[in-house]
Amino acid sequence: MIKAVSSPNIALIKYWGNRNNELRLPAADSLSMTLDGPVVEVTVEQAPTASVRSMLADGNEKTLGEKDIARFANHIELIKQALVHFSAPDAIPASLAITVKSAIPPGIGLASSAAVFSAVAKAVQGLAKLSDEQTSVLARLGSGSAARSIDGGFMALVAGEGDDIGAAKARQIAPADHWPLHDIVVAPSVAHKKVGSTEGHAGAATSPLFLTRIENIRRERQPECIDAILKKDFEKLAAISEEDALDMHRVMETQSPPLHYLNDDTHRIIAEIEQLRKSEHLSVLYTMDAGPTVHLICTEDCRKRIAEFAKAQKGCTVFELKIGNGSTLVAG
Ligand code: PMV
Repeated sequence: MIKAVSSPNIALIKYWGNRNNELRLPAADSLSMTLDGPVVEVTVEQAPTASVRSMLADGNEKTLGEKDIARFANHIELIKQALVHFSAPDAIPASLAITVKSAIPPGIGLASSAAVFSAVAKAVQGLAKLSDEQTSVLARLGSGSAARSIDGGFMALVAGEGDDIGAAKARQIAPADHWPLHDIVVAPSVAHKKVGSTEGHAGAATSPLFLTRIENIRRERQPECIDAILKKDFEKLAAISEEDALDMHRVMETQSPPLHYLNDDTHRIIAEIEQLRKSEHLSVLYTMDAGPTVHLICTEDCRKRIAEFAKAQKGCTVFELKIGNGSTLVAG
């Protein structure tokens, strides 16, 4: 039995849209900060038939829908293809029993799939002796953003070119101790979102804004965001990442069919945080993934004030997270 733990990451340059949906080869590079929680634990073991179980934080089993089960089965099939590509065709048994234990409410823009599929990939690394870069490819095959949770700190998913299964992989830009930022997560709703990101990516290219977005990331935003991180320039990081998050949501809202993930609470929280940072000179930035949840990324000196602001938001669930070290294998 192999056990691995992992956690989500929060994107500063967002991944939205693939050049190859089946292999989850992204259309552009993306960039994120790995978080230290909430932690997901995955165990894999050899079994006569393949199975997947999901346990909730309270120890109860969650019944998985057909779509979820099919996604895991598809991930394992793609992992097998990638292992052939990495010259390790017999590294995993023909059938695996997978158990997932997660403390993350799914579908609220807290990247539960990134944590789950990076943990599955990490567990396979325990069987197959792969490099972290190769393991990020395995993670990507379950959920594109999962590639960025294999290692910690600041991670880039480099899109690469062509349709080779291993063409897009994650690379660490800087380790967690380079810049110990915090992510105070404000979730207005813990209801499951209606359209998941897999479906959303498939429609991204129908937005008239999509190609300009891809070009902007390639030419400017990704290299400039890396530069801001390396120089620990918070103002620059805030300007680029907020522009990119809003740009992704404009693509989502103009694709066909349109996707509206943000709600009135999201817009209210953004407006209030803009006001607060101006009046109190706080190093805080906001960003949102595929959900109404607002991530408030801030420096250590602003953490208490931002947490206080977050906890004052009525009806919201707050998670106080910080930069983390990525996935690990657990003994036993
Ligand atoms: O990894 P996926 O397929 O769940 O896509 C993630 C998409 C965003 O969270 C919206 C952006 C990102 O880069 O994490």
